[in-house]
Amino acid sequence: MKVAETIEDVRVLVVEARRAGRAVGLVPTMGALHEGHFSLIDAAGSECDFVVVSIFVNPTQFAPGEDLAAYPRRPKEDLSGCEARGVDVVFMPAVEVMYPDGEALTEVTVGRLGKRLCGRSRPTHFVGVCTVVAKLFNIIRPDKAYFGAKDFQQAVIIRRMAGDLDFPVDIVVRPTVREASGLAVSSRNAYLAADERAQAPALYKSLCLAERMIRDSRPPAAEVIAEMKKHLAAEAPLGRIDYVQIVDPQTLLDVERTDPPVLIALAVKFAKARLIDNIPVDADEIGA
Ligand code: PAJ
Repeated sequence: MKVAETIEDVRVLVVEARRAGRAVGLVPTMGALHEGHFSLIDAAGSECDFVVVSIFVNPTQFAPGEDLAAYPRRPKEDLSGCEARGVDVVFMPAVEVMYPDGEALTEVTVGRLGKRLCGRSRPTHFVGVCTVVAKLFNIIRPDKAYFGAKDFQQAVIIRRMAGDLDFPVDIVVRPTVREASGLAVSSRNAYLAADERAQAPALYKSLCLAERMIRDSRPPAAEVIAEMKKHLAAEAPLGRIDYVQIVDPQTLLDVERTDPPVLIALAVKFAKARLIDNIPVDADEIGA
């Protein structure tokens, strides 16, 4: 496994691989790798001949006051995890490599899609995500790039960006990996205090409750959301609801009727951790 810290170095390695006729898969991450990331790396390994993992805590997707400084960084463990899974190249640039002038004056926005769901409380987040992912696509030029359904809105937005800007890349979206409790695996789970961690599986349970209601009888979205909020208030009183929504999985706009395909999505804030989760109901082919 090679580790590249500069754009030139990673480009040379990828160009060589492509010249040898190998299909290149990219897994963009912010490190502190866990089973969710590894599921993407494994998928890339089984579908591509040459796997590049990028590890970069992208400052432009954090707003002032968010957790950029506290975000977990574990480069040694990440590298051994990648090595164990047969990754070919890890691209680990410093901030100055990606943003030599301290910022990208040219930014990528996805308009409306970036303002919905998480975009309401994090209005600049998806501009930072799209800009860095566009840079990574241009640096690596992958044939396929892998994203998790855990961040469903991010996956919809990136697929849309790749289409709108004609990036010649296949966007592959893989299911959410969960702990035995149902809690979605996330780097941010490390911020949870013990009592919060005990309550956090209620997020997934409330999503399952909603999915059951929708599959059983398709009640109006407002009724389903009210039940979810009741469940969360009882089972996760330490969490403050940011949003609980049922949306069209392509437009991310609220639906009134719950005929699938729909996306049930929520964000809940604990003291230090803002957790997101979702269940797509018959919408697994995200934004396809
Ligand atoms: P990060 O949070 O490190 O996540 C990297 C990828 O792993 C994302 O595609 C995310 O959806 C996926 N992932 C995270 N937890 C998962 C889980 N439990 N199951 C399945 N997949 C999971 O998302 C980002 O980084 C950044 O925004 C990035 C795209 C790298 C741009 O900076």
